[in-house]
Amino acid sequence: MKPERDPETGWMTTGHEWNGITELNTPVPKPVWFFLIVTALFALGYWLLMPAFPLGSTFTKGLLGADDRAAVTAAVKEATAERAGWTGEVMAKSYAEVERDPRLMAAVRETGRTLFGDNCSVCHGREAKGGRGFPNLTGSSFLWGNSPEAIAETIQVGINSANPKSRVSQMPAFGRDHVLERPDIENVVAYVMSLSGAKASVGNVEAGKTAFTANCAVCHGPDGKGKTDVGAPNLSDQIWIRGGGEEASIYDFVWGGLQGQMPSWEGRLSPLDLKILTLYVVDLGKQRP
Ligand code: HEC
Ligand code: HEC
Repeated sequence: MKPERDPETGWMTTGHEWNGITELNTPVPKPVWFFLIVTALFALGYWLLMPAFPLGSTFTKGLLGADDRAAVTAAVKEATAERAGWTGEVMAKSYAEVERDPRLMAAVRETGRTLFGDNCSVCHGREAKGGRGFPNLTGSSFLWGNSPEAIAETIQVGINSANPKSRVSQMPAFGRDHVLERPDIENVVAYVMSLSGAKASVGNVEAGKTAFTANCAVCHGPDGKGKTDVGAPNLSDQIWIRGGGEEASIYDFVWGGLQGQMPSWEGRLSPLDLKILTLYVVDLGKQRP
């Protein structure tokens, strides 16, 4: 069928016909043209300004010279430089000097928290408060002392660890090895409990004191205040590494002995990380009330 003028509207038809239905040949609406032109111009502008077309080994860089890769490289470089700044200072300065510098300590607290979370929190807990068999590192009572040097050494070589320079400590099994008989142990437990103001259900404190002087004082000191050179804890405070100072658990320790193990971190963590962790642990102790 040939295009013909539609008598109703005055428009020509397209010349197509479907079962007697014909189509008017009206022009494309203006808004459609408008958006077509605007988007085409936008695309053209974007191609010119931004990196767009691959050219084999390179690509069109765009007139703005925007380059995400360069931006990322620059950001990484800046972060490394910043880290190199404070980490260099932490390595070069003494513990006391770093502790006096609020800017360095802020960096130590942030990085130390991450390092502690990654390596130490499985045993000592996220907040370093310890648990049964794992000492609280935020308290005032330390097995091996809480000077920065002592803590650095503990972290470096570990306690009863595989490191040849490991700190070594062991509480003998007085009961199992027949050093003390049951009544002696009950007496000594009663004495140990009396040191922190608690009272045992059995045992004689006076007799326990004699047995303590003979068997325990060599490691725990004459007054049970502990000795940091052999890693023996203070028994006269309310702080317990194992259990909560219950009569039965103290009896078990004296009967079966104790040997805690803390891994050595030398070689597993860098000297920088070891120093940051030492400062972090020292700082945890400083924040206690
Ligand atoms: C596998 C468990 C474990 C991990 C992991 C661990 N520790 Fe220990 N840590 C111990 C135990 C157990 C002791 C106590 C040993 C004992 O009873 O003689 C200890 C003791 C210590 C002490 C000595 C406390 C005192 O009273 O003198 C310090 C300091 C310490 N840990 C710091 C760390 C740091 C820092 C890390 C992470 C780099 C870490 N520990 C990771 C188990 C662990
Ligand atoms: C050779 C040294 C040594 C002798 C002797 C020794 N202890 Fe200990 N004792 C230790 C060490 C080291 C620990 C810490 C063990 C650990 O937690 O890994 C300890 C821990 C303890 C604890 C647990 C403390 C806590 O905070 O949980 C008690 C209680 C205790 N000893 C009582 C005694 C009594 C009582 C005697 C004497 C009958 C005695 N010890 C003799 C070295 C010794």
